[in-house]
Amino acid sequence: MFHSRFLRFSATVIGSLALAFSVSAQTSTISGNWVWQGAKLHDGTYDKFYFQFEQKGQAITGRVIYPWGILAITEGSIEGNHFRFVQAPVGEYKFVGEGDVVGDELHFRVTYFDNKYHDRIVRRCPPDEGNPPARIELPALHDVPWNGLAKTPPMGWNSWNKFGGNVSDEVVRGIADAMVSSGMRDAGYIYVNIDDTWEGRRDSTGALQPNHKFPDMKALADYVHSRGLKLGIYSSPGPKTCGGYEGSYGHEEQDARTFAAWGVDLLKYDWCSAGKLYDMSEVRGVYQKMGDLLLSSGRPILYSLCEYGAEKVWEWGPKVGGNMWRTVGDINDTWEVMAKNGFSQSELAAFAAPGHWNDPDMLEVGNGGMTDEEYRTHMSLWSILAAPLLAGNDLRTMSQSTRDILVNREVIAIDQDPAGKQGTRLSKSGERETWTKPLAGGAVAVGLFNRGAAPAMMALRLPELKLSGKVQARDLWAHKDVKFKNGVFEATVPGHGVVLLRIEPSGAGRQVRLL
Ligand code: GLA
Repeated sequence: MFHSRFLRFSATVIGSLALAFSVSAQTSTISGNWVWQGAKLHDGTYDKFYFQFEQKGQAITGRVIYPWGILAITEGSIEGNHFRFVQAPVGEYKFVGEGDVVGDELHFRVTYFDNKYHDRIVRRCPPDEGNPPARIELPALHDVPWNGLAKTPPMGWNSWNKFGGNVSDEVVRGIADAMVSSGMRDAGYIYVNIDDTWEGRRDSTGALQPNHKFPDMKALADYVHSRGLKLGIYSSPGPKTCGGYEGSYGHEEQDARTFAAWGVDLLKYDWCSAGKLYDMSEVRGVYQKMGDLLLSSGRPILYSLCEYGAEKVWEWGPKVGGNMWRTVGDINDTWEVMAKNGFSQSELAAFAAPGHWNDPDMLEVGNGGMTDEEYRTHMSLWSILAAPLLAGNDLRTMSQSTRDILVNREVIAIDQDPAGKQGTRLSKSGERETWTKPLAGGAVAVGLFNRGAAPAMMALRLPELKLSGKVQARDLWAHKDVKFKNGVFEATVPGHGVVLLRIEPSGAGRQVRLL
């Protein structure tokens, strides 16, 4: 989609370039540092992007410094006043800019993560403004001992998916209350996690303060604890978080102590601008540093690594003290992205174990972009994957059907099974996929997933599960026992839907573990 839009745009630009060139053969200079000032952040600073161009003849090189990282300019040119440039891709995203030099300003449009053009007016600024701080060398690699937490996949809530920058003390208290009144806490959802945008500035001693949205973090932690819940917080190993707020770079030890003193129980540590200082190949050392500090902070703090699956984090996540690690990019509230994140996890099963979990990102259940059928698929798949279950919706106002999806204890029991084994794809036929997860005591969870839009018949044969003889089977969404006829179970699975079964060899007795 992005591609065709870009091609169309290029065609019109080639026309205007020819015009510009015939009018002005004089090439302006774009060399130098230019700043774009965006929205005011909750800490009183502004989102700023720096465009550092270097012009040689008509060729442009340089880099763009975002709060979250630096992108090289891989190609660019200027003719007359008109310029265009392309930045190094970020995954599937490629940022391109196009516009004019207008006196001491640049007026241009540039694509960003939404693949849409955004108008920018940037002004000249001193050459070193926006440059990253000096690099701090990393400690030698070693294995950080396990903190003993997350014996089963962490469960709770996180502010990002629904609230983004609007999370506040009031929201968090309300969510904590709703977690209790909805029955979610008693079903196992314990962590209430504040994601990005809580951060303020550092005081004169370097201690990180929350911004105006969080008047007293310790009091908030006390409140959350008084509801029988735990508090999670967010930071980055870089100088800035992904949202452009203060990160922990150069203050790691102080921040670990601050979080412990507030009573924080979980840290989500998001790579973001660490890429300004460190090569991705150094990521393990970066995460190890905070892993050690959390362990010596004097408080058990669950460690959630967020670097989007780079450098096979699942291979070294436990060695830096990580209890969970994102394996993929950000989820959003669409069937496509949820399915892409969830159905891509089969090969990682061997890396999940009690204490250490693959994380295909937080839940979108109840946020409105998918149908209940799709949300049941989301919840079922995450449970088969033994993924952390972090609700991402507004628990204060959720509907009964959303609540029923999040608080289905029979499904939660699959996720939280004490054997701690991640499920895998057993078979695939077109858009129909069968996934299984071995459970404690010889039982198995089976998800019959229909990724197609139309309803589909799906069959499950006992020998596929290496089971023979009599079994007891239960449909965990219908909450009723189902029968195998001659060793075969058949069901019509709705489009984008699932039938989730728990199957036990007969005689072993039902072992549905209600929390
Ligand atoms: C990254 C993470 C998200 C969220 C945002 C906050 O994109 O992957 O989960 O924490 O940063 O800025």
